[in-house]
Amino acid sequence: MTPTIDRDRLLSEIEALGSISEAEPPVVTRIVFSASDLKARAWMKARCEEAGLTVREDAVGNTFARWDGSEPGAPAVGTGSHIDAIPNAGKYDGVVGALGGLEAIRALRESGFRPRHSIELLIFTSEEPTRFGIGCLGSRLLSGTLPGDAAGKLKDDGGATLEEVRKGAGFNGDLEQVKLQSGHYKAFIELHIEQGPLLERQQIPLGIVTKIAAPASLRVLIEGSGGHAGGVLMPDRRDALCAAAELILAIENAARTTGAIDTVATVGICEVFPGAVNSIPSRVHLSVDIRDTDLQRRDKVMQTMEATCQSISAKRQVSIHAELLNADAPADCAPAIVEALSHSCRKHDQKFIPMVSRAYHDSLFMARIAPVAMLFIPCRNGYSHRPDEYASPEDIARGTLVLAETLATLSE
Ligand code: GLV
Ligand code: MN
Ligand code: MN
Repeated sequence: MTPTIDRDRLLSEIEALGSISEAEPPVVTRIVFSASDLKARAWMKARCEEAGLTVREDAVGNTFARWDGSEPGAPAVGTGSHIDAIPNAGKYDGVVGALGGLEAIRALRESGFRPRHSIELLIFTSEEPTRFGIGCLGSRLLSGTLPGDAAGKLKDDGGATLEEVRKGAGFNGDLEQVKLQSGHYKAFIELHIEQGPLLERQQIPLGIVTKIAAPASLRVLIEGSGGHAGGVLMPDRRDALCAAAELILAIENAARTTGAIDTVATVGICEVFPGAVNSIPSRVHLSVDIRDTDLQRRDKVMQTMEATCQSISAKRQVSIHAELLNADAPADCAPAIVEALSHSCRKHDQKFIPMVSRAYHDSLFMARIAPVAMLFIPCRNGYSHRPDEYASPEDIARGTLVLAETLATLSE
């Protein structure tokens, strides 16, 4: 049995999903539980039902589409990703794994294959941290990493809680019940664009992920003193933005000087109050994202940042408060699934390399309750989280084929 991937069907679905957006095409913005997210979910569910899968949603909106195997009680083989998108994103992040997973399942069904273990497509809720400040909400709950009551209290910028917002979107039930029984999955595989340049640079079409880097994020509030941009003399200033500028560069330097290319740090949000041309900034809010494949090295950057906050605060007479939002451990992929993916690549004469995922994914948390691995395909210039994100039809179809083969092997 060799599954045949219907490339045109898959690509037209990627286009269709990309057009469900809060922004003008080609920009994709699809924030969790926004009107466009709800529309995308309904569209995705319809595609799964059309494919003959049985769809269920849990209390946070994680969506499961199941193809029952001949032993329905046996642990399932899972695949999937997310369909939410950060502001000003492209159409491939997450979507390639969600729709590629669906296409892989359809291709297996159409080839006459009959699985012993059920095969389940899983679309995670809010992989992106945009709305509630923390990424991988769905998979944190599925894996029991985040307790239901703590998740329910998370607030968006408007002050609405996850509890209120998810119920408003029609997802009721108890968040505590989202956690999956361990043993639900025999294996879980996420297909994804690389979101970095390495496959393209090496002209290798596939990457098999062996490890997912450890992410951490913080929200930093700096408070100084405002006033008239003309009247307040320089020695008297306690400018919150100047303090923020020092801190941002110190964080960059801490990440640059660990001696490892795997350490990365980003300040992606800088909100300045009051934000007037002739007013000294009195308050600044920063977001900080620090990641590394090595947990100790990442934590050392966080400690350096903490010490720097103290010294800048003393020197500039500003208060700096850093709130830790998450600091997660890295995950190792399961050697047996890595081998199954490698075997499928070899079967189809496809070159591949082992890789580290520097981006986080729901698989980071699924690894706590199931053996996981990820399959990466190249994306042009390594671009992601921007509207010109692009993966070629050939690469998408190739990744989907290798995924289908591997789902078949693992579900036999
Ligand atoms: C996921 O989108 C990440 O930021 O790695
Ligand atoms: Mn993303
Ligand atoms: Mn993603």
